Amino acid sequence: METKRCYIDGVHPEAELIKEGAAWLQAGELVAFPTETVYGLGANALDASACLKIFEAKGRPQDNPLIVHVCNRAMANSLVANWTPEAELCVQHFWPGPLTLVMQKTDKVPDIVSAGLANVAIRMPSHPVALRLIEETGLPLAAPSANLSGKPSPTSGSHVWRDMKGKIPLILDAGACPLGLESTVLDVSGGVPMILRPGGISKEQLEAVLGEVRVDNPSETLAPKAPGMKYRHYAPQGEMILMIGSSERIIQRMGLEIQKGHGRLKKVGVLCSLESAPFLHNLLPDLLFVLGSKNRPEEVASNLFEGLRLCDERSMDLILAEGVEEGGLGTAIMNRLQKAAGQRILYIP
Ligand code: TXA
Ligand code: MG
Repeated sequence: METKRCYIDGVHPEAELIKEGAAWLQAGELVAFPTETVYGLGANALDASACLKIFEAKGRPQDNPLIVHVCNRAMANSLVANWTPEAELCVQHFWPGPLTLVMQKTDKVPDIVSAGLANVAIRMPSHPVALRLIEETGLPLAAPSANLSGKPSPTSGSHVWRDMKGKIPLILDAGACPLGLESTVLDVSGGVPMILRPGGISKEQLEAVLGEVRVDNPSETLAPKAPGMKYRHYAPQGEMILMIGSSERIIQRMGLEIQKGHGRLKKVGVLCSLESAPFLHNLLPDLLFVLGSKNRPEEVASNLFEGLRLCDERSMDLILAEGVEEGGLGTAIMNRLQKAAGQRILYIP
């Protein structure tokens, strides 16, 4: 299949391009589009055979359900059987935005979207292209991140192009996604709200509105409530080690690992903070990628997936990553780094 890549204005999307995207979606085809978090691979959420194409294009296991994107409350109403008070509060405070709500579904939601679960995950994105596209299509859009399954989520049109070229008819490319990290997935189907995946809205922000909020810990439960959390995501080809602790000791340890790696003729890449970069630069890694300042987690979030992808493109055999402080957006960043490292984590106090 020939893939068309169209550059679209991220603030005032061109009407003809939105119409073209809507026409493909109405015809049961896939369109990649930007959201404020990462690029989504969209299909008509009410059309099971269109949604099946998402799983094929991504190589995604069918037991991993899809997030449905809506542009207004009425559209969400047709998909949700029971709005809990917690869900209502979340809608008021965080929609449109990077918060996905898991709620009891209606029969309108095909089984392939919810992977047979009784709940559906719904989100109203804030990106103008995403909102206009859903509006013009007039349909809820099922859309996972537009990467090949197992790869880091795409935060630019180029990332989508590399993963989806030849597999889908259209990519709407609005450049970099503002946040660069996926939405928070929150179960508000009943009882105490539970974070199934940390993301763009922090636990602290949710607690300020909802009171008590729990966190599902997939490594402790055999069956995580968000099925996607059990897969090894964001895994670069090379071996990755995440280092947590004092910067000074991390820099020291990285120096050792770089030397050891080079002794074994390995290419060693480093992902680090702006503050540590000058010291690590002197240790001559084969790639030095600055994630951002320790004081600006939003900067780190927006660069993280680009850094992981770059390590693969430059064929790093070993990747050494400096951790960030937990809390706020830092918790979501560390969640992605831990998954990328396949739980190879070094604590260096
Ligand atoms: O920011 C985002 O959320 C992006 C953009 C495109 O909106 N989407 C995204 O989708 O990250 P995806 O498919 O890559 O991740 C969705 C996560 C998976 O971990 C999945 O298992 C979980 O949400 N999920 C989806 N539906 C669910 C449901 N009904 N119950 C529990 N978890 C669900
Ligand atoms: Mg994904």
